[in-house]
Amino acid sequence: MAREFTSVGVVGLGTMGAGIVEVFARNGIDVVAVEVSEAALDRGRANLTGSTDRAVARGKLAEADRDALLARVDFQVGLDALHSVDLVVEAVPERLDLKRRIFAELDRVCRPEAILATNTSSLSVTEVSVATGRPQQVVGIHFFNPAPVMKLVEVVRTVVTAADVVADVEALCARLGKVGVTIGDRAGFIANALLFGYLNHAVAMFESRYASREDIDAAMKLGGGLPMGPLALLDLIGLDTAYEILDTMYRRGGRDRRHAPVPLVRQMVTAGLLGRKSGRGFYTYEKPGSSKVVPDESTPQERPAAGDGARRVARVGVVGSGATAAGLVEVFAGAGFDVVQVAPGAEPLDGLAEVDLVVEAVAEDLGVKKELFASLDGVCKPGVVLATTTSSLPVIDIAMATGRPADVVGLHFSGPVPARPLVEIVRTIRTGEEATATARAVCATLGRTAVVCGDRAGFVVDALLFPYLNDAVKMLEAGYATVDDIDHAMKLGCGYPTGPFELLDAVGLDVALASQRALYRELRDPGFAPAPLLEHLVTAGYLGREAGRGFRDHTAH
Ligand SMILES: NC(=O)c1ccc[n+]([C@@H]2O[C@H](COP(=O)([O-])OP(=O)(O)OC[C@H]3O[C@@H](n4cnc5c(N)ncnc54)[C@H](O)[C@@H]3O)[C@@H](O)[C@H]2O)c1
Repeated sequence: MAREFTSVGVVGLGTMGAGIVEVFARNGIDVVAVEVSEAALDRGRANLTGSTDRAVARGKLAEADRDALLARVDFQVGLDALHSVDLVVEAVPERLDLKRRIFAELDRVCRPEAILATNTSSLSVTEVSVATGRPQQVVGIHFFNPAPVMKLVEVVRTVVTAADVVADVEALCARLGKVGVTIGDRAGFIANALLFGYLNHAVAMFESRYASREDIDAAMKLGGGLPMGPLALLDLIGLDTAYEILDTMYRRGGRDRRHAPVPLVRQMVTAGLLGRKSGRGFYTYEKPGSSKVVPDESTPQERPAAGDGARRVARVGVVGSGATAAGLVEVFAGAGFDVVQVAPGAEPLDGLAEVDLVVEAVAEDLGVKKELFASLDGVCKPGVVLATTTSSLPVIDIAMATGRPADVVGLHFSGPVPARPLVEIVRTIRTGEEATATARAVCATLGRTAVVCGDRAGFVVDALLFPYLNDAVKMLEAGYATVDDIDHAMKLGCGYPTGPFELLDAVGLDVALASQRALYRELRDPGFAPAPLLEHLVTAGYLGREAGRGFRDHTAH
């Protein structure tokens, strides 16, 4: 017979634990909420009341319901208070020795029938379970941050977990209004295994000053369509927790260097820059625990729209005859620029003699682009900014085909051009300040958000997005989870608008493969090697939605 869960315990009331208490109490379940000391208990209580008060202020929770919710929670110091609960969810810091110690103690304190669950993100549930005398009653119940909001719960079953325990926990998740995905015990489970390589890579970009924190985050929100930028997300997760997760994933997940925590993460933890919880991480917050970002010494100054050395641009030449070129003409003309369009090969380039800016959108082929830029050099006035919309070629190679590399920039519009608000301005090691300033001013006139980055494969968005998609393919290939479960996990656990396989089918598997290959060629890190399954699908002509079949069959719909 299925177990009744009338009373549960939650151990650790930090970022996750307080939210987990709220989830249970909101659903009519009594909670014994446990911390390590009175001071920590006060902080945990404040985490919970802060969250429920915000829900009341936003009209999402009635005052009476908040009071009833809080009345269901019994705050206690020490694990002894958990002697009569039906289930315990542990949410203490991500350290194996600590969790094992707590589970051994829970085993001693709790009723023999009680289920013991860990909210670990990356540690082995199996290793935690064998610290008890009841490993068959130990599972992972991995909630997502913020627990009251995110719909996904990963239910982690070890080789020892009893089937009825898994079934009862799945039923409990449904009662909590969550979508449970049941999976085996592997580092990072589904969502974090796909998320943390990406987050760490974003930190590496920031650490190497490849782009600013604001630009990295804006790029992924506007160009990648994600609900938060990676650095803001790390501040929400907590840098200390993120460090432990990365470190564990590196050691357990096959020593993939992409999970080796970027040194900056460790430095920030040591310096107490833990993110929102300490009031400062990549960004500065109004106070500890606040989500409100306040300006600090790194906040960019407001720029005058066309000031700081930008050259005047009134007339724009668009080179190319495809969809990108058509989109560029629409966007530039719509913003009031005089636009001249030239289809190279079919028309002479002389029409570009009077323009102030050239934006090229011809075939994505280095030879073709270099030849075009050499010709532009002969036609255009001095001081004209020459821009390429390449998404994968090195801009410096194109710039060096001209005698004026200081005037050459990349202007990578996230496609489709009229729809997406982001432009990546790519600055090579030869690009001059004036050309960059001009590109910024033009983007401002277009009403686009511009981010400035260096000249590396994938710029910001593709360099962060495609390896994540490639990792999803590797996870599928390893048989760990299904296409649907992986898509679900990223949508419901991380709030992504589309799952990785939906995105791959939409973008085109051939496009994803080409981008991944370019990244791998540049970075030479085995972790970036294209997934063999991706290569096979492309070879077989299963290129995605347009081809009728990719990871899913689109012909039936
Ligand atoms: N932060 C996230 O986004 C996130 C998301 C999902 C899962 N997790 C996982 O949840 C767990 C907790 O992470 P967090 O980010 O909430 O950490 P946190 O540091 O915010 O909170 C941990 C809490 O545990 C308490 N604690 C420490 N030792 C204790 C003990 N012996 N007894 C009782 N309480 C004790 C601390 O006082 C603190 O309040 C970790 O396993 C983490 O991997 C975190």
